[in-house]
Amino acid sequence: MPDKDIFELKKCTLGELISAGEAYLAQHSLVYGHGTDNAFDEAAWLALEACGISPVEPLESYDILVTKQQLSVAREWFRKRAVEKIPTAYLTGRAWFAGLEFSVDERALIPRSPIAELIHNRFSSWISEAPTAALDLCCGGGCIGIAMAHAFPDCKVDAVDLSHDALELARINVAKHGMGAQVRLLEGDLFTPLTTKEKYDLIVSNPPYVDASDMRKIAPEFIHEPRMGLAAGDDGLDIVDKILAHAKDYLVTDGVLIVEVGNSKEAVDKRFGHLDLVWLDFAYGGDGVFLINAASL
Ligand SMILES: C[S@@+](CC[C@H](N)C(=O)[O-])C[C@H]1O[C@@H](n2cnc3c(N)ncnc32)[C@H](O)[C@@H]1O
Repeated sequence: MPDKDIFELKKCTLGELISAGEAYLAQHSLVYGHGTDNAFDEAAWLALEACGISPVEPLESYDILVTKQQLSVAREWFRKRAVEKIPTAYLTGRAWFAGLEFSVDERALIPRSPIAELIHNRFSSWISEAPTAALDLCCGGGCIGIAMAHAFPDCKVDAVDLSHDALELARINVAKHGMGAQVRLLEGDLFTPLTTKEKYDLIVSNPPYVDASDMRKIAPEFIHEPRMGLAAGDDGLDIVDKILAHAKDYLVTDGVLIVEVGNSKEAVDKRFGHLDLVWLDFAYGGDGVFLINAASL
């Protein structure tokens, strides 16, 4: 039986809403880069959230009747996702990173860094002891810093961003996770809000790294995110250059720097091939993250 048109559904179950939503999304040219990679998962995420059900909780049955109000919210979200190309997390207002829930809105990028896997594994095989001081450079809504604080309860975490708006969102997330005593938010350009008296065991950064050519071709979904979180000059290395130039001053002697550079991996290898960069592998997908020891900087 063909799927029903989502805009003609009068009464339906959650399962029927997901099927109709999937069929509707599949009729549109969409890019899935914000937490799912296909129309079915995206439809399930939207439909569950519209029905007030957390997409990460187990659900016994999809035969739940959808109310009129829920159907109307779902339709509007599906339309915005398909036609306006607004990423789902911006519609629903939350996303998950390293198993933790974060508030999300257009003030910061939607959390999706493969660094989540490293944090989840507590950087095992890369650090010998739990860090006591860590820095999340370019923290956006705070997901990396807050997740590190969760993973290492005795570690003080500083989180820096140049965007006042992003830090306002990070503040909401710090409060949501009750991390006010452990995570300090600082506004400024990379290391400038810090003094070199501050030394970290671990600096982790997911900075802007999209080069000018990729920015010109960027999919509409990503245009909803702050440009300042993505664009990093002609070769994508404007920010990474500065991080590599100054990180050593803020690391303890056996400290570690981890930076995501995504598609700019080739450019990094070309310019910094002389450094001992270790490109990390991920079991759950993702690429373009390097690690370097302070001694090699
Ligand atoms: C790719 S986003 C990453 C956000 C977050 N860490 C994550 O993984 O979702 C990069 C962030 O860097 C911030 N940023 C851009 N230029 C910066 C600079 N010069 N100093 C500090 N933060 C900067 C942006 O505001 C944005 O929040």
